[in-house]
Amino acid sequence: MDVDALVSEATARIADAADSAALEEIRIEALGRRAPLVQALRELASLPPDERRARGDELNRARKALEGLVDDRARELRGRELEERLRTDRVDVTLPGVVHPRGYSHLIEQTRRDILDVFVGFGYRVVDGPEVDLTHYNFDALNHAPTHPSRQVTDTFYVSDDVVLRTHTSPVQIRTMEAQPPPVYMATAGRCYRRDTPDATHTPMFHQVEGLVIDEGIALSDLLGTLDVFMKALFGQERRTEFRTHYFPFTEPSVEPYVSCHVCDGAGCSVCRHSGWIELGGSGMVDPKLFEFVGYDAERYSGFAFGLGLERIAMLRHELPDLRELWRNDLRVARQF
Ligand code: DAH
Repeated sequence: MDVDALVSEATARIADAADSAALEEIRIEALGRRAPLVQALRELASLPPDERRARGDELNRARKALEGLVDDRARELRGRELEERLRTDRVDVTLPGVVHPRGYSHLIEQTRRDILDVFVGFGYRVVDGPEVDLTHYNFDALNHAPTHPSRQVTDTFYVSDDVVLRTHTSPVQIRTMEAQPPPVYMATAGRCYRRDTPDATHTPMFHQVEGLVIDEGIALSDLLGTLDVFMKALFGQERRTEFRTHYFPFTEPSVEPYVSCHVCDGAGCSVCRHSGWIELGGSGMVDPKLFEFVGYDAERYSGFAFGLGLERIAMLRHELPDLRELWRNDLRVARQF
């Protein structure tokens, strides 16, 4: 075996190796287990002792030389490959990106969040309640007489004799009071159901926002102040508010909150049906009879509650002429907020 020829051939190939993978192949051929040089080293033992030393020196020098060349070339190639990768992997931030079309929350959901945000700002706890509930929570514990007209099967969806799709969010008041001692500062929002024929202002499924405050010394003025701040937060600080007496079985006294029309500012227009005022729901001082159902001390505690129609508020904010627009999924409606 001509060691010099072998070394000079391998040296040339190492210098020519185009990349790390090619160099690795050359290394295996020249220095791997089956390389002639390595085989020759293994066969040294069979040489007569006087030849062995000189041959061994020669072969080992050749191997060391080639190993050094491979290492140097490997380092060189790795450096070049890294540079290449850095150059080609660079992100060009000036290239136009992929445009993802923007999604929209439903207007009811938008309105729900905006309303609850106001009450969270007041420090209320936001809770949830079941949409399918016992008549006990939907009616009895809210002081509805057994003959109350809203109990009729023509008004309410019955699941069974004593289970209904809730007709309002007020049952959450009872469930909240049952679950905790006073004080209570609670808001809830969700779906309600009534057997109404759909028209511009009714759908069989709709949403309400409910609030309940129970503490020592809560007075009607607290209710009026709370809803005044709430209505102005939602419809604008320049609005005026007003409360008109009403009746609900579970509040005494009861009042309906009104806000001056944000479209005509009270002058009268089609949005406020030419009255200048918009009614947002019901409210009142919690009737102490409710406390008997939940075991609260009516001598020590008093409170107020309110329930507002969410569709109503969404329609007003977005000036929708017909409540059913909210459920038609017309993108021109869905995109306006
Ligand atoms: N639950 C009533 C309804 O659906 C609205 C309401 C009135 C809720 C007075 C209240 C309240 O919390 O105090 O018509």
